[in-house]
Amino acid sequence: MSLIPTIIVLFGGAGDLVWRKLIPSLFDLHREGRMPEPFAILAVDRLPFRDEDLRKRLLGGVKEFARNKSVKKTDWNAFARHVTYHQGDFQTPATYSHLETTCALLDKAWKVKAGRIFHLATPPEMVRVIPKLLADAGRNRNRSRDRIVVEKPLGHDLESAREMSRTLRQSFDESQIFRIDHYLGKETVQNILAFRFANPLFEPIWNRRYVDYVTITVAETVGVGHRGGYYEHAGALRDMVQNHLMQVLCLVAMEPMVSFDADEIRNKKVDVLHALRPIGQGGQGGIHPYSVRGQYGPGKLQGKAVRAYRREEGVAHDSRTETFAALKLFVDNWRWQGVPFYLRTGKCLARQLSEVAIQFRSVPHQSFPTECNRDWSPSRLILSIQPEEGIVMGFQAKYPGPRMLLRPVEMRFAYKDGFAVPSPDAYETLLWDVMNDDATLFMRADQIEAAWQVLMPVLEAWAESPPRNFPNYAAGTWGPKGADELLAREGHAWRPIA
Ligand code: BG6
Repeated sequence: MSLIPTIIVLFGGAGDLVWRKLIPSLFDLHREGRMPEPFAILAVDRLPFRDEDLRKRLLGGVKEFARNKSVKKTDWNAFARHVTYHQGDFQTPATYSHLETTCALLDKAWKVKAGRIFHLATPPEMVRVIPKLLADAGRNRNRSRDRIVVEKPLGHDLESAREMSRTLRQSFDESQIFRIDHYLGKETVQNILAFRFANPLFEPIWNRRYVDYVTITVAETVGVGHRGGYYEHAGALRDMVQNHLMQVLCLVAMEPMVSFDADEIRNKKVDVLHALRPIGQGGQGGIHPYSVRGQYGPGKLQGKAVRAYRREEGVAHDSRTETFAALKLFVDNWRWQGVPFYLRTGKCLARQLSEVAIQFRSVPHQSFPTECNRDWSPSRLILSIQPEEGIVMGFQAKYPGPRMLLRPVEMRFAYKDGFAVPSPDAYETLLWDVMNDDATLFMRADQIEAAWQVLMPVLEAWAESPPRNFPNYAAGTWGPKGADELLAREGHAWRPIA
């Protein structure tokens, strides 16, 4: 596929996201010959930098975070000559006229009207400022060539998400807006669609008749690092569930798409969010039988002592922010009626692991004598997102020997064995898609709002009744006991993949 000549403007060009993710990914794309020809990267920020100083800083990020960390000087120089720095305040119109002059000069030198991508790697409040000033400078007019990329947090709640959509749409058309949820760029997350809809084997059993329950787990060993200030106002529900886990849920539960058109897929995903039963509606006890929150206290992780969340930099000593969240959700439609979807995520947990586990129902009639089945466990399919990238199918097999004994066994597919090529970083995929004008892996305003809508009852209830038992799990464990009880009440269980 050939890309049009492109100018990429990185607002927040001296910041962490550009250093850690955007430039290493763009560098990898360039090293593989996948960048447009010609292209330019204009990094914009307030700090004073000379081009050379910025490039030096960016090279440090590339050496640490690029896919292949051994960076040849010739590869770096070939890439770095496309990167220039522009000092400017995001709130001042002069910054935008200066950018405009630079872009016009590039167009003239290249003898084309280049596509322009404006990537906001900035604090979230800049979403109120930059799009408007870009529009004032006329940089929203070419609907097929001018694009804007925004990062999470995409709102703090339903109301602020709506306001953010309104602000963006006042300046850009929805087709020009690319909202990043980097989980959607992960190969194994994209593979959920391939697995479900490219194999006639699984789709017929992907429903309430055969599936007992589903768990979607994103366990992290990291704490909040230097992001305590941000995390204090977010918490696990906003930081992870509203976006990454909800998006994975949509891919697992959606109906088959009719074509691979971006809006067709996004329509099918938003249908899932609309079908989610309002949490706590109609049942006794409000949201409580459906949600669990937690915060880590001191503990031990991989042999090292870990301090409590409340002792992290930028975190209040009596913080009520949750670092763990678990939800039980129901998708009220024909396919999934009555099947619980358990979403769980937390920081400072025992192991890093992101996976979807589809737990199938037991056989309708046990025809083997009881003594055959001592270790019986119904079939389980695990879509392992990271760090292991692959699929594990657990089923029953006959144990070797003269007697008919049944034991659970596993069949494993690992990406690294199945394919000789390494998986690209999610940002490589997403940035390439923006250049290609392919919005399939990006979130539409209605998806974001629908996801917030689902979470609002929990956010409101949690805000109204502060937790009394925080911290309620030790760092290095699998989270609060309540999260396991959420499943156990229904006779369900979650166990980490071996
Ligand atoms: C980010 C969250 O969106 O995703 C972080 O803000 C989290 O808190 C990160 O650690 C997880 O992403 P990944 O790709 O490292 O699993």
